[in-house]
Formats: sequence, structure tokens, C-alpha cells
Amino acid sequence: MLTVDKYLELINNAITSIEYPQTPLGLYEPVKYQLDMGGKRVRPLLTVMACDMFGGDINEAISPALGLEIFHNFTLLHDDVMDKADIRRGRPTVHKAWNENTAILSGDAMQIVATQKVCEAPLRVLKEVLNLYNKTALEICEGQQYDMDFEAREDVTREEYIEMIRLKTAVLLGCALKMGAIIAGAASLQADAIYKFGENIGLAFQLQDDYLDVYGDAETFGKKIGGDILNNKKTYMLISALSMATGETKERLEKLLAGKADDEKIAQVTRIYSELGVDKIAREKIAEYSQKALGYLDEIPNNGELKKFANSLTERKL
Ligand code: IPE
Ligand code: IPE
Ligand code: MG
Ligand code: MG
Ligand code: MG
Repeated sequence: MLTVDKYLELINNAITSIEYPQTPLGLYEPVKYQLDMGGKRVRPLLTVMACDMFGGDINEAISPALGLEIFHNFTLLHDDVMDKADIRRGRPTVHKAWNENTAILSGDAMQIVATQKVCEAPLRVLKEVLNLYNKTALEICEGQQYDMDFEAREDVTREEYIEMIRLKTAVLLGCALKMGAIIAGAASLQADAIYKFGENIGLAFQLQDDYLDVYGDAETFGKKIGGDILNNKKTYMLISALSMATGETKERLEKLLAGKADDEKIAQVTRIYSELGVDKIAREKIAEYSQKALGYLDEIPNNGELKKFANSLTERKL
């Protein structure tokens, strides 16, 4: 087993050596921009680490791992259009630096390159890897659709929210781990257990992303603070606030949701969150899912580095 830093070095070197066609520049330049602008590389790290944990050859996992990172970055290109987000990783998003058509088409190209990379999985496991990948990719679309649908609803339940983030975010973490396990030839019970770990840590991961969207530091987080509030995203915090607020506070909150999407809205909604203590409720939920996740690692070999990494994910500031 290697350390997280060592796996990341392997992954980042592999990302830097990806060769794209030279032309048309307008298609491939934004792809490079998106992939070279950093990111935590969580998903490829999980794939390579899982492969190593089950005694596989990590060289076989690198291309599929890159495929998942490229796929993730493709979803971000389209997500930033859908969420009207101008800043990511501290830089203008592709639809801002270029335009929306570029975000659409360069995103489409990335999705195809992602699939090409996943298809470089060893032939003996290719069918299983592709089934997992395609299933996950479609689930992410479903999650993103719920995320958008929920913007216009005020009666979204906590259960609906959890299912939405399971689909848009958590399944990709599960998929990343299970793909590494499959490549290593892990027993299917163990591949399923590491998927469940990934799914639950993925729920904690998205809850943390939503928390940082309100309480993070813009410079470290690299995204606009309050973007979810502007879009009336039905996060765990907003759903909790809507169900806990009464009287004058409830009226104020509802008025803010129906009102102008500006910095004042962010400040006021954040104030209501803090008055009601929904930040604490979110933190408890994050702890709950990360605890639940760790339970799935009991029977998994060489799990020390993964446990450490999982803990760092829910404490993260970016
Ligand atoms: C952002 O993912 C989208 C979510 C699922 C929360 P990351 O937080 O992994 O983004 P990068 O790749 O590190 O920038
Ligand atoms: C993104 O969720 C999930 C996917 C891109 C599939 P968010 O919309 O919360 O991600 P960020 O905050 O823009 O990174
Ligand atoms: Mg989104
Ligand atoms: Mg977004
Ligand atoms: Mg977010």
C-alpha cells in the first residue's frame, strides 16, 4: 500500500500526460482548462486505492480512474451552467471564461473521452466495469434532475434530499471504489461492501459541500459562498430550516425564497440558519453518515489509509 500523497502523484502525472487532439482549439482548450485547474482528485484516488487494497495491479486501474475524474469534471461543466455558477476552484467557470455553448460541447467531448479511458480497463473485467460505469452515469443525471426540480418546490422531504444527493454525488464515490475492487478481482461481497462505504461517505461528502457553500471560506472553497441559497437549493439545512421555523421567522424565510437572488438574501438566510441552529444539525448528519460508512470497512483488508482519507474528507474546507 502507498500513501494518499503517492497515489495522488501518480494520478496527477497521468492527467498531465493525457494527449488531446490539437484542433479544434475551441473544443479542447476548455477541456484542458477544466482538468488542469486542479481539484481534489477524490474519485480516481478511490479507484486506485481500492485496487491496491485488494491486491490488484494499480497500473491497470489508472486509466479507468482517469476516466472517472474526467467524467466528474464533465458533470461540473454542465452543473455550473445549470447552477449559474461563475467561479470554481478559484477561477471563472468554463461557461464564463468562454460561453454556454462551449460548456455544453466541451462537456460532451469530455464525457466521450471519459468513456474511452474507462474502456481501457482490462478485458477480463471490462463488461462489469462498463455496466457499473453506465449505471452510475445515468443515476447522476437522475440526481441532477431531482436537484433542479427541487429548486421550485418547498415541500421536499429530508428523505427526498438524501436520495437526490445519493444519486448526484454518492454513487460516483461508490462506483470509484467498486471499480478498483473489480479490477483487483475482489470477491463480489467485498466489492459491494466497499461500494456501500463509498455511497455513505459520499452522502457525508455532499452534506459537507452544502455546509461549506454557506459556512466555508470563499478563497479556500474556490466557489461563491451562498450559491445554493441564491438558487433555493433544497439542502438539508434549508429543508430543516423550513420545517423548524415558526411565526415571523418562517414568514421571513418564505419571503426571502420568493424574493430577489442577491447578497442580501444570502446574508439573511444564513442568519436564519444560524438562529435555528441548522448548521449544527448538518454537522451531526455528516458525522452520522461517515460513522455508518466506516462500518462497511470492517471486513475489508488494508483499510487504514482509506479510513484516514475518509475522515479528512468530512473535515475538509475545500
Ligand atoms: C464537487 O466535487 C461536486 C460535488 C459532488 C460536491 P469535488 O468537491 O470533488 O470537486 P473537485 O473536483 O475537488 O474540485
Ligand atoms: C454537484 O453538486 C453534483 C454534480 C456535479 C453531479 P453541486 O452543484 O453542489 O456541486 P458544486 O457545489 O457546484 O461543486
Ligand atoms: Mg448542482
Ligand atoms: Mg453546482
Ligand atoms: Mg455544492
